[in-house]
Amino acid sequence: MDNRKIGVFDSGLGGLTAVKEIMHLFPDESIVYFGDTGRVPYGTRSKETILKYTHDDINFLLSRDVKMIVIACGTASSAALPEIKGEFDVPIYGVVDAGAYEASRVTKNNKIGIIGTTATIKSGAYNKYISEYNPKSQTFEMACPLFVPLVENGHFNTPVTKLVVEEYLKDIRDAGVDTLILGCTHYPLLKNAIAEYMGDDVTLISPGEEVAKFLRKKITPENAHSSVRDDEQYSYYVSDSVSSFEELGGIFLETKINGKVNKIDIEEY
Ligand code: DGL
Repeated sequence: MDNRKIGVFDSGLGGLTAVKEIMHLFPDESIVYFGDTGRVPYGTRSKETILKYTHDDINFLLSRDVKMIVIACGTASSAALPEIKGEFDVPIYGVVDAGAYEASRVTKNNKIGIIGTTATIKSGAYNKYISEYNPKSQTFEMACPLFVPLVENGHFNTPVTKLVVEEYLKDIRDAGVDTLILGCTHYPLLKNAIAEYMGDDVTLISPGEEVAKFLRKKITPENAHSSVRDDEQYSYYVSDSVSSFEELGGIFLETKINGKVNKIDIEEY
């Protein structure tokens, strides 16, 4: 048994897509979440900045005594994780490998769409894994930088969201993909708008959910949390407004998180 928490981070709300699935699959585990809402978005920044932010976020979670870390951010997973592997004492898992694996597995026509932040698409990380898992596949990519501010402002399925979805996804839809990787963990919060536009025949992959499933191989009887829960099973930290995170995070997790969110100064870590 190991009753330390699982640390999860993202630049904002997006990583809650992983948290929700971890809660569902591992109801005994404790989770500490950090959303870097004061510095979101990561996806339009340079690799150096993304590396610095990733280090800060990991150091903060390590200060909460975690047993493993999930980088529930496509940008940090693709631009920073390959560089920092091995630097820390706890295992660190990213979302790219798990998402690419699932897309490679479910595609039938071997045409896979990949959408993500500018940094993620530039890194080629999803392509790298897909070409290993399914060398026959063809990929079609698009950076969608306006999606993150839409999510952070609660525009999950409004007319402006539908317009931006069409603008970004038209070429990928016309290419005839049967699988679309929502390669930024914020994007599943726009799932309804994206699914409506892409149609029923296209399978949407949420790498945040996939990394949670991937943890099934990593959480063993030796390192699982005991079924005795502590009072603080789930705690959330942000680097900006607590109230907007409580409101939007609560909607997404379908549970009230008021009073469980604290603000920290991430630059101290
Ligand atoms: N949710 C993140 C990702 O998966 C970050 C989005 C951003 O901050 O630009 O890429």
